[in-house]
Parts: sequence; C-alpha cells; structure tokens
Amino acid sequence: SPGDGKTAVPAASPVLPEGAPLRDLPRLANRASGPGRFEADLTAKPAIARFAGGVETPILAYDDETPGPLIEVTEGDKVTIRFANHIPGEETTIHWHGMPVPAEQDGNPMDPVASGADRLYAFELPEGSAGSCWYHPHPHGRTAEQVYRGLAGALIVKPRQDPIPAAYGDTPLFFTDLRLASDGSIPPNTMADLMNGRVGDHVLVNGQKKPVLTLPAGSRRRFRLFNASNGRFLRLTFGTAPITLIGSDGGLLEAPVPGLRVIDLAPAERAEVVVAFDQPGQVVLRTEDVDHGWMGPGRPDTAADLMTIDVTADRAETAPALPAKLRRIADLGPPVATRRLEFTETMSMGEGGMKMGFLINGASFDMNRVDVVAKAGQTELWEIANLADMDHPFHLHGTQFQPVETERDGRVSKAPYRAWKDTINVARGETVRLLVRQEQPGLRMYHCHILEHEQLGMMGVVEVR
Ligand code: C2O
Ligand code: CU
Repeated sequence: SPGDGKTAVPAASPVLPEGAPLRDLPRLANRASGPGRFEADLTAKPAIARFAGGVETPILAYDDETPGPLIEVTEGDKVTIRFANHIPGEETTIHWHGMPVPAEQDGNPMDPVASGADRLYAFELPEGSAGSCWYHPHPHGRTAEQVYRGLAGALIVKPRQDPIPAAYGDTPLFFTDLRLASDGSIPPNTMADLMNGRVGDHVLVNGQKKPVLTLPAGSRRRFRLFNASNGRFLRLTFGTAPITLIGSDGGLLEAPVPGLRVIDLAPAERAEVVVAFDQPGQVVLRTEDVDHGWMGPGRPDTAADLMTIDVTADRAETAPALPAKLRRIADLGPPVATRRLEFTETMSMGEGGMKMGFLINGASFDMNRVDVVAKAGQTELWEIANLADMDHPFHLHGTQFQPVETERDGRVSKAPYRAWKDTINVARGETVRLLVRQEQPGLRMYHCHILEHEQLGMMGVVEVR
C-alpha cells in the first residue's frame, strides 16, 4: 500500500558524475619476493560504492573495489591467491575466465567456497597463455547476481616478450553495466532481464561513467577491451579513428588486422586493439546499436557514448610501427571427433505465468550430469548451432579454442585469421565451428555467457579424461 515505503517504484536512475580523467585500475599487490611467482590475498565482501555523488550503493566487491583489482601476471608464473568469502549467507567461487588452470582450481559451481570460508587457488600459467582474461564468481544459480552487484575484475597475462611497442602504452578498458534505482540501490533482475540478459542504465569504463583520456596528437594507443557485463552486447567505435585489431580473448593474433571501424564484443568477449589518434580534437568511444534478438518492448542496450579521448595539439613523438608478425598460433591439426551442441529456447505457461527455458541439446544444466566426454590432448570439432530467437555467446572453460567457420542459411564463411578465443557469439540462426583441444583432465563447464541464461540452465559439463 502507498506510504509503507515498499511499493514506491523507483523513478529515474540517479545521475552519475561524468568527465573525470580515466583512472588506472587499482592493482592486486604481489607479495612474492622472488621472480616467477605471484602471491596475493583477495576477499569478496559487501561494500558501499558512491557512483552517483553522495548516494550510497550497497555492492559486492573484491577488496572493496568494483571492478576488482587488476591482476597482472606473466606467462610461466606460479600463481597462488588466498581467497576469502566474506559475503554473508552466500557461497561463491572465483572462476579464472579464459585461463587454462587445472579443473579443481577453476572455480566451478561444484566447488563452492562457503560464506565465511577461504581457500587457496593455485595454478601455473603455461607458456603461450598470455592474454586478456578476467575473473568473476561462478556459484550455482547466483553467478548473474553476484556479477551485476560488482564482482568482476581483469586478469592480464603478459607475454615474456611483448612485440607491441611500449610507446603504445597498454590500457585496459573494463566495461561493466550498472542499473541504479533512485535510492541508489542495485535492483534485482526482472522477468525481462532473465529473458534477454540484464542490461542496465549505465556502461562504466573502469568503474567510471564517460571518463576522459587526454593524449597528444599522433599517439598510437593499445587498449585491452573487456565486456564484463551480464547481457549487454557492445559494438565499439572510436569515431573515425582507424582501429587495428591485434588480439582476441587468448592473446595476440599472428598478424595485425588494420583498417577496422567497429569492434563487436558479446558479453564476456575481449579484444586487443591499437588506435591511431592523428588529429587534435575529440574522439568519442561509443557503443552503437546491436540487434541481438531482444524479446519484448523497450530494448535498453542502444547506442551510447562511453569515453572521450581528448587529442591535444602538442605532437607525440613518432611511434614505432607495429611489427608485421606478432606471434605464431599453434596448428591444432585435424579433428578426430565432432560434437554438436544446439541452443534452444522454450516457452511454457506455468502456475507463475509464462516460463522461458534455455537449453543445450534439449537439457537444462544439471551439476551431477556429464553431457560430453572428451579426451585430453585430442583435437575435436565443436559445432554450436543456435536454433533460438536470440544470440547466445558460447563460452568453454579449461582451454582456448580456434574458430574455424560460421554457417548461416547454408552459406559458410571461413574464419579470416587464426585466433585463440574462449567466448564467441553464436547469432540466432547461425552455426559456428570451433577447433577444441583440452589438455588437462577434469570437469569443465560450457555455457551461454549471458549470465541470466547460464542461471536458467543454458550450461553443460564436459568431462575430460
Ligand atoms: Cu566467465 Cu563459466 O564463465
Ligand atoms: Cu544466452
């Protein structure tokens, strides 16, 4: 009833301050004394953020930060992270999205850290594993909520020898999605969110609304782009500044791909780019409209400005050119087995009204069921067919895969270059084919990375033997 304080519908989202200088992500401090090791503590706990001026927003944070602190390690490092779960009444995990860590270190839903408990995550980063990964919780049924409440951070694995000129810098842009009620709280998921994937009111860059980066004219900048939102598809442009793609989820490509204007990033995808800022003036980093099969009225993830690059008139020193070859990516050889996974959506009328089901091969996730059995060290062809009405970004744990081709309406387009990826959008009506080789035994998850769909069951388990 009116006046009891519970029925008030939040009016409008509070206004967030804009235009502050782009901040560096805070870093997780390494307390190891010798080289080749990274040792740290990390705690998940409730915190208060002030996104909108003085308005207090209760969030979940890693070490009081959202996004969580940047973890920067080098391939070959031995990593040990003592993780403590201080979230009252909720289990959680840390999943090292994109890193080939042993199965029991991967933060799977079957491996929860109870509220009040802690555990050690320990793994060694293989040679060649450099890339732009991230970390987030993965507890059964609560992943989507814990991520939109603030738990996600960047995990950058540097190569021992970096072929990209140091003069380009190396700037992570970590995109998260935020919805704020008028009282500053983060509202829970609605039916529309569960159906489409949650899309909020604000896209934040390193936790900031529309920050500003100031650079001299003639600059070449290297950006690592992370889509850490639950359900928002990003289509990024830097005005008319030309973009050169140099890396995917799993690190550098074999050769730069110059002359791009647009970078598409489905939820959980990453990319590395070099952008040339030749003329003084303002360049706006924007996300453009993406049609990914939104169901129902009021599609919220439309075009928006995300960041301004202020290019000043004082000329940068002439930067060295990008090398023509960046690295070699292993040939996985011919596949010895083929798997087919089909994404479908179902609608049914239940007691509580309309219910949507999100299925893989007709089944909803069951932690105690093994859906696929694979052999360690063996190359397989995975065929992911999207027979549903919405796009679903496919993610596989435990390894990076190589896209081979995409089929739509009987027409096949080959992947234009070899790349390591762990997340790939499968548009509605499309089939993508991937080369997959798992190196380590154990249980691995695969799922749609619209986290609301993962929560509703669009996930399976592969047992690698
Ligand atoms: Cu980014 Cu199974 O997760
Ligand atoms: Cu999905």
